Amino acid sequence: MSLPEAGAKRAVVEAMFDRIAPRYDLMNRLMTFGIDRGWRRRAIAALALRPDERVLDLACGSGDLAAAAVEAGGRVVGVDVSAGMLREARARRLGCGLVRADALALPLADASIDAVVSGFALRNFVDLRAALAESARVLRPGGRIALLEVDRPASALLRYGHAIYFRRIVPILGALVAERDAYAYLPESTAYLPDEPTLRGLLAAAGFGAIAKRSLLGGAAQLVTAERTDDAAERAGRPAERSPHA
Ligand SMILES: C[S@@+](CC[C@H](N)C(=O)[O-])C[C@H]1O[C@@H](n2cnc3c(N)ncnc32)[C@H](O)[C@@H]1O
Repeated sequence: MSLPEAGAKRAVVEAMFDRIAPRYDLMNRLMTFGIDRGWRRRAIAALALRPDERVLDLACGSGDLAAAAVEAGGRVVGVDVSAGMLREARARRLGCGLVRADALALPLADASIDAVVSGFALRNFVDLRAALAESARVLRPGGRIALLEVDRPASALLRYGHAIYFRRIVPILGALVAERDAYAYLPESTAYLPDEPTLRGLLAAAGFGAIAKRSLLGGAAQLVTAERTDDAAERAGRPAERSPHA
């Protein structure tokens, strides 16, 4: 599957996730040998949730991160553009709200969220800059964001092994379990991922500070965390409110 043009991307991505939704969780477990569960726990732990904090699982898919956030005591809403993925999430009765919406136009009030988590979704957004700005808008000043994504190992040897696994084996596994095209898109879509300095720049421009990146499994994945600064509110032309936790 070739990468879609920007204009078609949202519809192509939405239709693809609608199709693979019933096999999505199984593929995740097989592809990562279940290691993704630990990554998800780390992403939620990085948010250091306090009881009843309002959490947005951005592009929640079938709801693994939302489930972990509920378990950690958050009041969670998951947002996703794919009706098929949301159907899978609803079937799990996660104890959270689930809303079909675009990450670029969240149906949430300004500063209404304490923490945003997002798993393996950045590559799929049509406009990452706009998606980060929208996350900053709904986060209160001092609110935290944790972004889990695939990555490229820094070591040449690991990068070689990773490329073979990701570009040759995963599409075959995808063909057997779900759909070859979708799991050929997965490695291809890393082309949409900015490198670390660019992602840091985008986060800073959206109004995030305290940006930190942790490499997972030798760089196969990354966990990027940040905090919304007061500047983000000023940028959006409204007075910054004080964080109750500041
Ligand atoms: C690889 S899946 C990740 C799902 C889930 N976050 C996880 O960790 O397993 C990417 C998800 O992003 C969703 N998505 C893609 N573009 C989106 C957008 N513009 N707004 C909201 N969700 C979007 C897809 O429907 C899909 O469920």
